[in-house]
Amino acid sequence: MTVMVTGGAGYIGSHMVLRLCDAGEDVVVFDDLSTGRRSLVSADAAFMEGSLGDTEAVAKCIRDHEVKEILHFAGSIVVPESVADPLKYYGNNTCVSRGLIEVAVTEGVKRFIFSSTAAIYGSVGSAPVSEAAATLPLSPYGRSKLMTEWMLRDVAQATSLKYGVFRYFNVAGADPLGRSGHSSPEATHLIKVACNAALGQRDHVAVYGSDFDTPDGTGVRDYIHVSDLVDAHALLLNDLRQRCESVTMNCGYGVGTSVREVIEMVKEVSGVDFEVREASRREGDPASVIADVSRLRASLPWAPQHNRLRDMIQSAYDWEVKMAAESEG
Ligand SMILES: NC(=O)c1ccc[n+]([C@@H]2O[C@H](COP(=O)([O-])OP(=O)(O)OC[C@H]3O[C@@H](n4cnc5c(N)ncnc54)[C@H](O)[C@@H]3O)[C@@H](O)[C@H]2O)c1
Repeated sequence: MTVMVTGGAGYIGSHMVLRLCDAGEDVVVFDDLSTGRRSLVSADAAFMEGSLGDTEAVAKCIRDHEVKEILHFAGSIVVPESVADPLKYYGNNTCVSRGLIEVAVTEGVKRFIFSSTAAIYGSVGSAPVSEAAATLPLSPYGRSKLMTEWMLRDVAQATSLKYGVFRYFNVAGADPLGRSGHSSPEATHLIKVACNAALGQRDHVAVYGSDFDTPDGTGVRDYIHVSDLVDAHALLLNDLRQRCESVTMNCGYGVGTSVREVIEMVKEVSGVDFEVREASRREGDPASVIADVSRLRASLPWAPQHNRLRDMIQSAYDWEVKMAAESEG
């Protein structure tokens, strides 16, 4: 029995593949390398290069590898790009997921775990947001992911497919053994951007909004280390194998950290006092987004190992240093 990881050459998917291979699972990665990198894929996993839009190739891969479980990480993930080019997002996130779910059902796949996002909630207050909150996404990205959640829910009602949906908050950090990390040069994630500034790869870091109703005026987010995130997936997969109960869960720590706190920690870890510029708020950016993680805590025996801000930033910084050394050498 093989686990298929879509998007397994990307940031989070490659960490998932390492986690599964470390546990001795058979894994096949399906990725078109549009933003992923072949070099991030564990040598212990099989690799199939192709677009998930090619449903015949996906079906063949499922049959050839006797896939019974799919972990679906592949997708397009840049919120402002989704506003400028919504059809790309409805195509690559919603339509491609629809095709993948259909092939999964036809080919007898039993379990399906999907990477959703806190962006499906839309405007939230400063209190932690639970899964019961209204889902009113502010962007085509959020809507494209929410529609996939709906499809999974409906298909699970109508077939024997069981699903797990994780709504990620802000994913950060890198593999503590230095085998993978955030590698897309276009990434806009704050921790990566600040590490790049510390290494002189950017001339400054912009703070979008310092007049929010938060303790220091900057936006507050719930950062989760990628290794703890993929551990939660491994536990959920195990739970689905045993209990066969579909579930939708937030995945964060339930702790808020401000933009300014992140920047100060990157400066401390790197020892570099890079330039920070104040900029106006970005449209649709909420003041604070923090997960209520009661359901995750109650459902899975999850014990985060990397939930200190310093650990997250140190591992992200170490990865950037390694990539910079590799591109120089
Ligand atoms: N990074 C975050 O903070 C975050 C937060 C919330 C949700 N997510 C979700 O997690 C998932 C993974 O995100 P990531 O940060 O690893 O992104 P990423 O861009 O690093 O990885 C996406 C991977 O999918 C592949 N891919 C994209 N479209 C494909 C297609 N049609 N066929 C085959 N492969 C395709 C890319 O080549 C890449 O390897 C995404 O679904 C994203 O929406 C990420």
